[in-house]
Amino acid sequence: MRTQVAIIGAGPAGLLLSHLLHLNGIESVVLESRSRADIESTIRAGVLEQGSMDILDEAGIGERMRKQGALHHGFELAFGGGRHRIDLLELTGKAIAVYPQHEVIIDLVAARVAAGAQPLFETSEVALHDIDGARPAVSFMHQGEAGRIEADFVIGCDGYHGVSRPMIPQGVREEFQRVYPFGWFGILVESAPSSNELIYAQHERGFALVSTRSPTVQRLYFQCDPKDKVENWSDDRIWNELHARLEHKDGWKLNEGRIFQKGIIGMRSFVCAPMRHGCLFLAGDAAHIVPPTGAKGMNLAISDVKLLSRALSAFYRSGHQGLLERYSEEALKRVWRAEYFSWWMTRLLHTFADATPFERRMQQAELENLVASRAMRTALAENYVGAF
Ligand code: FAD
Ligand code: DHB
Repeated sequence: MRTQVAIIGAGPAGLLLSHLLHLNGIESVVLESRSRADIESTIRAGVLEQGSMDILDEAGIGERMRKQGALHHGFELAFGGGRHRIDLLELTGKAIAVYPQHEVIIDLVAARVAAGAQPLFETSEVALHDIDGARPAVSFMHQGEAGRIEADFVIGCDGYHGVSRPMIPQGVREEFQRVYPFGWFGILVESAPSSNELIYAQHERGFALVSTRSPTVQRLYFQCDPKDKVENWSDDRIWNELHARLEHKDGWKLNEGRIFQKGIIGMRSFVCAPMRHGCLFLAGDAAHIVPPTGAKGMNLAISDVKLLSRALSAFYRSGHQGLLERYSEEALKRVWRAEYFSWWMTRLLHTFADATPFERRMQQAELENLVASRAMRTALAENYVGAF
């Protein structure tokens, strides 16, 4: 089998890239290790920057997002017993949407299927060959049979644990990493949202976040030990912790409801550079990870493939390699800024067990400065909506 672009991984990066290439008349094949049902139901990120919404709209797959996604013009920062609104629209002219990642995946798979280019689901033993030679190829097992695809380019969109990144030789690849000493406990709750806007709360017991999924489902997170077990957290214990971290004297109440999903995610910052080696290009989590505090993970994956689809389109249109050659450098510029913002938000809002009393006071002072200064609020808002 031969194609122009072989894509490994049907996450937001792989599926969107395949769709954008299709719109530019470029053929691709997507290989995915999981089933369609699995990728369409895995609960992950929820926030789309305005720029990501625009990309999905321009690609003709924004209809459900516009109807079902909730547009948010601001969010709240809670600390020291008070709540402070960050008015994204007023400060930046932009907004964000809360639209779950698995819904984006459903929209993208539907678009691929409609174009007659369904990803190859449940492939295994995916291996890359000759990525810096003349005949790049990907071999795999699918439905009990061995397959091989030869391609001009191989794109690793296979997430942090994928097989693509390790193909960049160790002497060439540089990796930067920080693992945080905490994780997020995430739950889905059957109840009306407690707040019209997201609430990011700093509290001495640990960070908490109030988000939504729909008019009848809330998404809530709280800082926990990354090695903790879901079984250690009864519903009662979860609600006690959330009430303690989120409710203050102002009378605002967190809505309770049936908890129907629980999970713990670890938190790390990670960057691999370069994001290209020979015919292999990396995009999304395969190349970089951010802690979820700044809501950047899915957005970075989307902006990587926007750049990459432009570069590949220019190559196939005119034979020019310039954009392909600059891809890694251009993508990494945005990646590092998002890494900085996500690290900064994480440091600002979480409780570090080893922080000294002085460092704790500095954290409070930074939060006070932030809400008191329009300039600092603007910088936060610009980073959050991705206005750069
Ligand atoms: P992925 O979505 O990881 O897609 C990679 C795909 O490649 C997967 O479908 C995988 O099955 C497939 N794959 C892997 N290896 C192979 C292989 N060898 N062969 C074939 N296919 C392969 N971000 C936020 O901003 N907020 C959040 O709350 C948040 N929660 C998260 C929760 C979890 C559990 C995880 C893992 C991530 C979360 N993220 C969150 C991050 C965000 O979801 C990612 O940044 C985003 O999914 C990146 O998209 P991607 O396409 O690059 O990678
Ligand atoms: C959600 C996830 C985030 O990481 C975030 O910063 C805000 C909202 C969410 O899943 O809704």
